[in-house]
Amino acid sequence: MIKNTDFETYGDEFDGVAERIVDKNELETDADFSLRPKTLKEYIGQNKVKENLAIYIEAAKRRGEALDHVLLYGPPGLGKTTLANIVSHELGVNLRVTSGPALEKGGDLVALLTNLGEHDILFIDEIHRLKKPVEEYLYPALEDNTVDIIIGQGPSAQSIRVDLKHFTLIGATTRMGQLSAPLRDRFGIVLHLELYTVEQLTDIVRRSAAILNIPIDIDGATEIARRSRGTPRIANRFLRRVRDFAIVLGKGVITFEIAKIALERLEVDYLGLDNLDRRLLTMLIKGYNGGPVGLSTLSAAIGEEAITLEDVCEPFLMQLGFLARTPQGRCATLLAYKHLNIEIPDSKQLVLGDM
Ligand code: ADE
Repeated sequence: MIKNTDFETYGDEFDGVAERIVDKNELETDADFSLRPKTLKEYIGQNKVKENLAIYIEAAKRRGEALDHVLLYGPPGLGKTTLANIVSHELGVNLRVTSGPALEKGGDLVALLTNLGEHDILFIDEIHRLKKPVEEYLYPALEDNTVDIIIGQGPSAQSIRVDLKHFTLIGATTRMGQLSAPLRDRFGIVLHLELYTVEQLTDIVRRSAAILNIPIDIDGATEIARRSRGTPRIANRFLRRVRDFAIVLGKGVITFEIAKIALERLEVDYLGLDNLDRRLLTMLIKGYNGGPVGLSTLSAAIGEEAITLEDVCEPFLMQLGFLARTPQGRCATLLAYKHLNIEIPDSKQLVLGDM
């Protein structure tokens, strides 16, 4: 049922962090695929999203109509593609998968749209990266299930209107702010995915370990979860790496000690911060006196793309309360100084005390 179209350019804006163990934008592997829950019941976490989606799906089924268009947004690695798969499974319809940068010309999108069956789903990942001319083909498709195809060139060019089947677009984005207003307004259902709690990630790690036949105890699962920065994709990747350490250094079982040793070797600290997170905070504190400093200045100073810092590091550092975004720029908080064991200058004590 699931047809992956063109993923060639998927995630290329994250090339700069390809080697990071916590990189959330790698191509999905077969192993990731096998861990994916297939139904809403199996899906752990995102409770509000899940409950609302269940209602919308049931209502669409009872009405015998296509589900309204859905926009999923939130940081990478939280399961947007998984949710699209689940929705298609729950509705019993086909899913076609593509991504914004993979659709180079209007014709690419038209070919996908005209091949959709009644009530099928088209999933466009990174929908904020659609080129404007391609995006413009979407408007009439979303509004009244038609596309206008131009045939020929110059004065003899003709526009032909083609009717489409009733379909559902599921768009996924990490950057709501970059979506144009006309596109955003055409989604009837907008769902925000949030970082997972340690408890939810522990359940995900235990579920994945059971599927992959990896012996793990509860403290081992919790330790992996705690260091996975709220992200199931990272937790599942850590699980496989920690298993290697358990086999070679332990008795094959993932315990707290094994998880701790393995993740320390991977330079992921007890809260889940990796080298890049630490470089960002250290530069902010030592290079810019704790801020405020603009994102582009920070990005140039540590030699990492601003988009990576913004999408991958900042949501997590803000969740931990280590970073504040202010109108003047990024600021390190008191907690960040403490975590990195950096003395807080007297001049900062008063200001940071409020953060
Ligand atoms: N694997 C990855 N994400 C998951 C989730 N939200 N629930 C269950 N298993 C998962």
